[in-house]
Amino acid sequence: MKLKNKVAIVTGAGSGNGRAIALRLFEEGAIVVVADMNEAGANETISQAPEGSKAMVVKVDVTQKDQVDSMVAQTIQEFGKVDILVNNAGIVAFTPFLELDEKEWDKVHDVNLKAPFFCSQAVAKEMIKAGNGGRIINITSVEAHRVVSSSGHCQPHYNSSKGGLHMLTKAIALELSSHGITCNAVAPGVVQTPFTEKGLEIPEVKEWVLERLPVGRIGQPQDVANAVLFLAQDEASYVTGSTLVVDGGWTIH
Ligand SMILES: NC(=O)c1ccc[n+]([C@@H]2O[C@H](COP(=O)([O-])OP(=O)(O)OC[C@H]3O[C@@H](n4cnc5c(N)ncnc54)[C@H](O)[C@@H]3O)[C@@H](O)[C@H]2O)c1
Repeated sequence: MKLKNKVAIVTGAGSGNGRAIALRLFEEGAIVVVADMNEAGANETISQAPEGSKAMVVKVDVTQKDQVDSMVAQTIQEFGKVDILVNNAGIVAFTPFLELDEKEWDKVHDVNLKAPFFCSQAVAKEMIKAGNGGRIINITSVEAHRVVSSSGHCQPHYNSSKGGLHMLTKAIALELSSHGITCNAVAPGVVQTPFTEKGLEIPEVKEWVLERLPVGRIGQPQDVANAVLFLAQDEASYVTGSTLVVDGGWTIH
């Protein structure tokens, strides 16, 4: 077991990639705080964990600093430390640039960029206090690096929020490296989750995606979870400020 007795917080762990990440960390012996605003989803994740897993559900809106601080305080109270934070909660919305309003811009940036700032800062303070280093892993997207627009599905605010998270990852990595805390990103391509479900149900969209995937299949949440596991291990201590792209080869060309 690679993460025996490590304590991890995974945000957005009540669905899709976050659920797969939590379950992968459980399999490796981690104690996982399954954090999500969707409490039922979070409970469902825990119900799928291997028997004997130690876990806690925290119902949290990660865009609210007081709720994030309380999530971290509850984790410390229950398990005494935090070794791993996975900033996974994220949302997408499809609106062309010229039609985008301030409310939608703010909502996407609040979840995808401000929340990782709140969570990383609160957790890093505890990691530094404990003095045992730590791992912060941000789920970005290939859309932090390129604009993907199939059938006119524009998402400029998603692009800018994930691009921002890409650079926040590097800045955190630089500031916290002297504390033995690494900060890295995992950038998925298209992964089959409730997030992409509707789009992938449209045959032309699925075909458009598959044509661009050298490995010949759509990504699964387990693909993302395996990348997170690599970065979460002690053995990854020399990797920081990096992005592990998990996209089936989409961005090769
Ligand atoms: N699915 C993909 O193709 C894909 C590709 C690239 C990146 N990603 C990223 O992966 C991450 C997870 O996406 P997914 O596909 O699993 O989506 P999902 O919709 O299945 O799950 C997202 C989870 O985040 C939770 N969440 C949303 N806002 C929250 C908030 N304010 N506070 C707490 N929880 C909140 C939701 O309740 C949900 O459980 C996101 O950051 C997304 O941008 C997904």
